[in-house]
Formats: sequence, structure tokens, C-alpha cells
Amino acid sequence: MKILGIETSCDETAAAVVEDGARILSNKIASQVEIHARYGGIVPEVASRQHLLAITPTIEMAMAEAEVGWRDLAGIAVTIGPGLAGSLLVGVNMAKGMALAQGLPITGVNHLEAHIYANWLGGDAPSFPLICLIVSGGHSDLVLVKGHGDYVVLGRTRDDAAGEAFDKAARILGLGYPGGPAMEKAATGSPVSFQLPRAWLKGNSDFSFSGLKTALLRLVEAGEVARWGEPDNGRRSAAEAAASFQEAVVDVLVTKTVAVARERRVKQVLLAGGVASNTLLRQRLMDSSPVPVLIPAPILCTDNAAMTAACGYYRFQAGKTDDFGLDVIPGLKLG
Ligand code: KG4
Ligand code: ZN
Repeated sequence: MKILGIETSCDETAAAVVEDGARILSNKIASQVEIHARYGGIVPEVASRQHLLAITPTIEMAMAEAEVGWRDLAGIAVTIGPGLAGSLLVGVNMAKGMALAQGLPITGVNHLEAHIYANWLGGDAPSFPLICLIVSGGHSDLVLVKGHGDYVVLGRTRDDAAGEAFDKAARILGLGYPGGPAMEKAATGSPVSFQLPRAWLKGNSDFSFSGLKTALLRLVEAGEVARWGEPDNGRRSAAEAAASFQEAVVDVLVTKTVAVARERRVKQVLLAGGVASNTLLRQRLMDSSPVPVLIPAPILCTDNAAMTAACGYYRFQAGKTDDFGLDVIPGLKLG
């Protein structure tokens, strides 16, 4: 069963064809990162305009690479939220138009659920019950997954998401955009250079990263840390600050995820979302987890449509087909 996935929730225009929710036949991503980098962050109006330009060629490329025509497809899966309204609309309207014209069923996919389903692509299917840590630009969610489509959110961020924290820290250190990969690359200094604060929020599984970001800002403002590219002049380097910051974020994410995995006696731990491409986080979680850890390849951690198609496959299997009243839900939550 071949599903066409379409993803336009943020700043990547993506289309993919996936067979049986696991085998990637194509996975195309038209990135806008260079355009938004000029502004130091995503400009929603620019994003939706770029999606409009890129959506048709991206879908055409995905179908050509997968060597499928419309009659080979069993359905279309499209992200309906959470995300930027103007961006989501481009994908959803395109998907509805194609489904109507080609007589194909359509299913609306939650982007966070799709991130979890990146773990179904390629390797052996995960085993339930499991814990998934979703860490992206907008979310840090600890989710108990009991079965397909069966989620309990055990913890979420109270302020900045993990990816957002990396992005803000990168800006403070003068590392530019996108911040997460820039922070990882810059983090070559000692990770114990500074004692940055960790918000443990004892007794629950929520996260908070804004205090950490503020602590970093204070160090830079107090002249204790040099920004990237500036001469140190007796200050600590941005490489040390980036490493200490990354260490603090990873420490909290891994400690809380491992605690929940033990408590809930799950079979596996899954990692998902853009921050899951961070090498230190991947390594530390694998080293610390009491149960096997599954992590998608880095290209499947950041936004893509193969994960949307995989998620859509399981929705179709469960009979969750939508009608043409399908609409975007920018604030959509999980569970
Ligand atoms: O899942 P994603 O591609 O988009 C959203 O749904 O938000 O996640 C993007 C986020 C950004 O905040 C980005 O800085 C972060 O993931 N990110 C990273 C890394 N790669 C991407 N954070 C830390 N280390 C990385 N290597
Ligand atoms: Zn995402």
C-alpha cells in the first residue's frame, strides 16, 4: 500500500512516497533555510509563499523518484497541524485538490504523531508500550505510546521547547540560524566549563529551558563569555559556552526520559523531532536507557514527509479517512 505524504507545517516543503508505512520509495525536501537565515528566523509570510512555489515540483519529484503514478497510490496523507497556518494551508489545499481530482482517500496527520512515526521507517517496527521523547522547534513532549494512535502525554515544556532553546542560545552566542546544528558544531569546548542551571521540576515530567537560556544571556552580558568570532580577551569562549549549554539540555532530557521509562516499565524508548539529530543526545540516551533505544536517521528526525506518509498509513489502516471538510489546526495537540 503506497501512500503519498505531504508536509508543509513550517519551513520545509516536503513530499514522499512510502510503502506499507515503512519502506521509503522517495523522500523530497525543498528547504527554505537559506531564505529565512537572512532574517535570523522564520518569517511566516515568506514561508507560505515559498511553499506555493515549491509544492508542485516537490510532489512531482517524489512521485517520479518512487516511479509511481496516481493509480499506484492508495491514499494521500497531509500534515494539518501543529504549525504555521499559512504554511499548513498550502499542503492541505494541495492534498485535497489532488485527492478530489484523482479519486484518492485523504487523511489529516498530526505533525507530532508523524515525528514519532519516523521510527517506523526502515528498520524493525517498534514494540508497544514505549516512551517517545519528541524534541523539536516547538515541542518537548514525553509521550507514553500504548499502541497505534494511543497516546498519553506525560510531560511537556512549560516555556521554551528544546529546539527553541538551542535556537535562542545560538542567537545569544552570535552563531546564527538555524541554531541547533550551529550549537552542536560550535560545542567543541569543555562541557563542564560553566555550571549552568538545570530545571528538574521534581515530581513531574515537565521541562523548562528558559532559565538556562537566561543564565547564558547573563554570562554574555556580564562579559564572561565571548560571542562567536570575537577575540576571547580573557573571557571564556563561545565553544565552551555552547558545550556547557548542550550538556545541560541533554542532561535534563535524558535523565527525565530514563526515569519515565523505568517507572512505566516500557519495552522501548524512541527519540523524535529535529533535536533528535543531535549526536550527544542520541549517544547519551543510548548509554543511559534501561531498554533498547530507537532513533531515526538524522534526515528523518527533522521535518520530512516520509514520516507523514508512515503515520498516514496507520491512520488508513485504522479507518481514519477524512472528508473534504479537512482543515488546518495550527494549535493541534497530541493525545
Ligand atoms: O522537527 P523540526 O525539524 O521542526 C519542528 O517541527 O520544529 O525541529 C527543528 C528544531 C530547531 O529548533 C533546530 O534548531 C533543532 O530542531 N535542531 C537541533 C539540531 N538539528 C536541529 N538541535 C540541536 N542539535 C541539532 N543537531
Ligand atoms: Zn517538526
